[in-house]
Amino acid sequence: MEMANEFPDATVTGIDMAPIFPTTIIPANCRFLQHNIILEPLPFPDNTFDYVHQRLLVAGLKPRDWVYVVQELKRVTKAGGWIELVEVDGHGGNNGPMTQQLWNWIELTLKSRGINVNIGTQPGLANLMEQSGLVNIKHEVFNLPTGLHGGKIGKLLKENEQAFWIAMTPTVIRATGIDIQEYEDAIIASAAEVEIYKSYHTFYSACGQKPACSLPPLPSPPQVPKPEPNFGEKSPVSPIPALFSPWPTFVRSNIK
Ligand SMILES: C[S@@+](CC[C@H](N)C(=O)[O-])C[C@H]1O[C@@H](n2cnc3c(N)ncnc32)[C@H](O)[C@@H]1O
Repeated sequence: MEMANEFPDATVTGIDMAPIFPTTIIPANCRFLQHNIILEPLPFPDNTFDYVHQRLLVAGLKPRDWVYVVQELKRVTKAGGWIELVEVDGHGGNNGPMTQQLWNWIELTLKSRGINVNIGTQPGLANLMEQSGLVNIKHEVFNLPTGLHGGKIGKLLKENEQAFWIAMTPTVIRATGIDIQEYEDAIIASAAEVEIYKSYHTFYSACGQKPACSLPPLPSPPQVPKPEPNFGEKSPVSPIPALFSPWPTFVRSNIK
């Protein structure tokens, strides 16, 4: 998550999370923090950001985590600010047989860790936002090509997909018990398949707004001079005329 510069370093709480950050393209107003959102709340006060974006956490969060995470994103968003979530499905489309086999292994592996790879549709990003009380929700579904048949985006998505499968090797082998050679052969076969079958991935994107406060915050009450104690006599009525004051006025009388 990219954050503006005014914040102190966040505590590094990540387990199984590598501190890998971009090194070449870093916008001047961005800095990168490592933080596990499940272990601790985000290290930002309530109502901090105008816009919060979260992308591709599908393989990291369990269904119950999703509800909590969207609420946490809402907490750090300003009233009237926007949250955007972008996710991908866990199986792609127009798959060749080996590509389909790879996605089946991935789904099985993540399922064994309690992860739902179909969060984009079950329950869906818009539903999660609605549950968290966001409003003006807009939801989009679109397919992006995987492979050279899809130009630059397709080439990048294919590289990303291959890197994902390779990175998942030990986890998949452990969870499914399949032979490593079989898994690696499937990755190689898939590189050709995605071009032949014109494979793609379905992406889900949702934007939602944190409701603006219905009433503007009240200005601080004026400093009323503290009355001198006057035992035995009635205290004066507050000097603020009740009709025009947004603050409650009090008539205090001493106990006789
Ligand atoms: C597929 S990558 C996506 C990275 C980046 N958002 C993007 O779209 O390029 C998934 C990221 O989620 C992070 N992640 C997984 N579980 C997390 C958690 N509990 N708290 C914070 N980040 C987590 C991983 O460390 C990894 O960087």
